[in-house]
Amino acid sequence: MPQRPYVIDEMISAKSIAARIEALAREIRAEFDDTDKLVVVGLLRGSFVFIADLVRELDLPVEVDFLEASSYGDGMESSREVRILKDLRGQIEGRDVLVVEDIVDTGFTLDHVLHLLGSRHPAKLKTIALLDKPTRRETGVRADWIGFEIPDEFVVGYGIDFAQRNRNLPYIGKVRFTDEDALA
Ligand code: IMP
Repeated sequence: MPQRPYVIDEMISAKSIAARIEALAREIRAEFDDTDKLVVVGLLRGSFVFIADLVRELDLPVEVDFLEASSYGDGMESSREVRILKDLRGQIEGRDVLVVEDIVDTGFTLDHVLHLLGSRHPAKLKTIALLDKPTRRETGVRADWIGFEIPDEFVVGYGIDFAQRNRNLPYIGKVRFTDEDALA
């Protein structure tokens, strides 16, 4: 399918993201203060930049693991059917776990992952999402910590892609199709 032309309008600056992560890390440190070793689980691939910045702000002993769930493919709509493409390497039974998600949209991905990890009996299971689109939610799930609530826009950057592109932008931007501008 040919790619429609688009531009990216900055929505959240790299500086605002860094400041927000610093504040979130303080709250997370307080929550997991008495933990021997926290397991921080990044949901691939969108959370890889966020988790890298977040763990470096957490002055705690942490172990990092990753899980990959299918969701959007290369499109702009959730498939609503979540499959685990890559499971954790480590055991989480009896451990304190923090799941790190890039965006909670319909909520199907996070809901599925929380049920799966919950069935493995962690001592504590908490979640953080950099972005939340509450108006898009189709499940009851909510992350324990949220970086920014955003409107129903398709966003990219800071690890988040559109058809595998734009993950390396240092800020969050929204996709604007320029052929729509031409029609307006
Ligand atoms: P959910 O299962 O509908 O909550 O979707 C969660 C996943 O969809 C996120 O982890 C992202 O990978 C992807 N996603 C949701 N919204 C966007 C977006 O605006 N841009 C890029 N990916 C998105």
